[in-house]
Amino acid sequence: MDILIRSTPAEVAIAAADIFVRYANAGATLGLATGSTPVAMYQELTARYERQEVSFARSRAFLLDEYVGLARSHEQSYYSTIRRVFTSHVDFIDELVQSPEGDAADSDRAAAAYDQAIRHAGGIDIQLLGIGGNGHIGFNEPSSSLQSRTRLETLHPRTVQDNARFFENTDSVPRYALTQGLGTISEARHLLLLATGTEKSSAVRDMVEGPLSAHCPASVLQLHPRATVILDEDAASQLEDYEYYRFVDEHRPH
Ligand code: F6R
Repeated sequence: MDILIRSTPAEVAIAAADIFVRYANAGATLGLATGSTPVAMYQELTARYERQEVSFARSRAFLLDEYVGLARSHEQSYYSTIRRVFTSHVDFIDELVQSPEGDAADSDRAAAAYDQAIRHAGGIDIQLLGIGGNGHIGFNEPSSSLQSRTRLETLHPRTVQDNARFFENTDSVPRYALTQGLGTISEARHLLLLATGTEKSSAVRDMVEGPLSAHCPASVLQLHPRATVILDEDAASQLEDYEYYRFVDEHRPH
């Protein structure tokens, strides 16, 4: 795992954008995440697009997950959210920004079709990830098989609580989602996980230094040959080997 520790969330966004633009300009298939953490990176990418430093015209994108039971037109569906916060502000071809069909009549079928669509596109070159306070990635909650495929998942009460800020109240938060599985995510050629804030620090410690465990789904990154984790100091604050990671980052052999 490559661990980059930056002073502030703004610096995390810049470091992540530096990696992402190389893929976009090469016309890569991009895996996108929603939630609050990547928003600063999306704003940075939009600014670079406006300065003509990056184009998404040759890229396609797959989202990590989608709530079940929300219409695509619902402002909190991830289909709508990614367009509002990012893809509609740059030159993405809208039809090439795909997400699991959360409002499908047959969720199992929609999940299998999504895995298939990713495969048909030749796989994901770089998958952006956030991490839940309980260690989830995508909506793979604790106890998810490390080899799981895209499927219907029941949201953990902590996730429902964490995401209530986007809804009128906790009761309006969907209880189910379609999520890329941990096996699906692991097939992306490069994983790029961002985390900021102290509320992520124990999940980050478990992901990086804890045992490989379905109890911390993000620990599956330990098995990936190319995983980059970019943290601010708060999110990195519980890492036992903090000083070593900083040293490695500052003294990379070229
Ligand atoms: C979002 C997703 C989630 C979030 C995670 C962190 O598509 O799959 O795993 O990345 O819940 O959310 P934030 O960034 O809002 O703290």
